[in-house]
Amino acid sequence: MLEIQDATVSEIAAGSLAAVRVFERLGIDYCCGGKRPLGDVCREKGHDLASVQSELESAMSAATTSARNWSTASLRELIEHIVGTHHEYLRRELSPLGARLEKVHRVYNERYGDTLIGLPDVFAGLRSELEMHIRKEEAILFPAIAGYEAASIAGAPLARAPFGSVSNPIRMMEAEHDSAGKALAEIRTITADYAIPDYACVTYRSLMAGLQELEQDLHMHIHLENNILFPRAIRLENSGR
Ligand SMILES: [Fe+2]
Ligand SMILES: [Fe+2]
Repeated sequence: MLEIQDATVSEIAAGSLAAVRVFERLGIDYCCGGKRPLGDVCREKGHDLASVQSELESAMSAATTSARNWSTASLRELIEHIVGTHHEYLRRELSPLGARLEKVHRVYNERYGDTLIGLPDVFAGLRSELEMHIRKEEAILFPAIAGYEAASIAGAPLARAPFGSVSNPIRMMEAEHDSAGKALAEIRTITADYAIPDYACVTYRSLMAGLQELEQDLHMHIHLENNILFPRAIRLENSGR
């Protein structure tokens, strides 16, 4: 199934959660920047393709079958999972994370001089963009995709959406994912990969842990949309026209 050499990183990631974990560990972007052949990415990052390949294969064959295969689950279930897990995560965590950031930034700048320069602005931009983004998905795009699936199961024609083809809002969502991916990369740079100075208090540590968790959750969230949900929705639309 897996022609690892020629497959793109996002294709490999779409088929296996175990592969996603390998990519995360190796710092390989499987998310917004994942539409490139694995061979190219390995060359660029200085990883040996053969060893990455065997690592992927053993991780994938060791993976338990208990993990949900989102390539074959219904789109409605996948949407419920994205909303219930990843949108819910953002709704729950962004506000306390913002409060922690505000506190750390204020106190450490007063006590120790320049600390985490620019982080409040990058985080605020990411937060407001994400809050709007998930509302748009839930109000417009996801109901349209679920409607397509329901119609196709019922053998009915696909309803014409006000935005025309589903690829129009998908393009917009993917552009917003790219922008979120850039903000995450900026946060990594500003925090020097979530480094914790010796003098860091508990709040500082929990801020770094929270930002790192946000990155992981968002990468998985965008992966499920860009690499699985959106291509499946486009295929469904094409097959119904
Ligand atoms: Fe989403
Ligand atoms: Fe999204």
